[in-house]
Amino acid sequence: MNRKYRKTVIAGNWKMFKTASETRIFAEDLKNSLPRAKRCSIILCVPFVNIPSAIKVLKDSRVAVAAQNLHWEEQGAFTGEISASMLAELGVRYVLIGHSERRQYFGETDLTVNKKIHAALKAGLRPILCVGETLEQRELGVTADLISYQVKAALSGVSAEDMRHIIIAYEPVWAIGTGKTATPEQAGEVCGTIRTVLRKLYGARVARGSTIQYGGSMNPQNAERLLAQADVDGGLIGSASLNPSDFLQIISAANRE
Ligand code: 13P
Repeated sequence: MNRKYRKTVIAGNWKMFKTASETRIFAEDLKNSLPRAKRCSIILCVPFVNIPSAIKVLKDSRVAVAAQNLHWEEQGAFTGEISASMLAELGVRYVLIGHSERRQYFGETDLTVNKKIHAALKAGLRPILCVGETLEQRELGVTADLISYQVKAALSGVSAEDMRHIIIAYEPVWAIGTGKTATPEQAGEVCGTIRTVLRKLYGARVARGSTIQYGGSMNPQNAERLLAQADVDGGLIGSASLNPSDFLQIISAANRE
């Protein structure tokens, strides 16, 4: 990471775990145990229905609450969907867009990811754009091309000014939920590739100031080494974010690094 130019961000993605009452207990625990050092921003991406509980407990803390998805239309006949303005009104600050599980299981495409980025920005939400290659794509040697394409497609039509509000998370699909982490060098290399794409699209200043996270089996044991990479500005953490002590240890690693 490079704190001189950009923010370090540690985000937990709970996926489809925890009820509202479990959220309240976790959020209280987290709030009361946060380290004093404020060297990284902290985000919790909770299931939609847990957002009010999380916000109630965390509203006066430095932990921001995020959603894990949204619909790109402002409103309409889209049964079961949630719009950006619904989230914004609740006090949600960030939203995950294009997580690989949504691409894999729910038909998310580069086009819908792009539409969602625009919808989020319009409502004042900050997107956390997720990109990543499968094992097959890595073995075929197309990782850099594929990630560059995913980033360019997702950011189509996004201005340099809006890019300042976007976080990018590099999450290799083969490392998610598998216990198989990218090596610090692999993570650093792809995050560097993403920064190069941003430089070409938006210029050196925006690229230098953009936060790029790594996600995929990050845990208290490997966080510090991953975060030591110059282009890795934080983590998007799945299973280790479900346990307050593990999540806090990763926050402490980000503060130390
Ligand atoms: P794990 O940390 O459980 O591998 O999940 C990573 C992830 O998908 C975060 O969005």
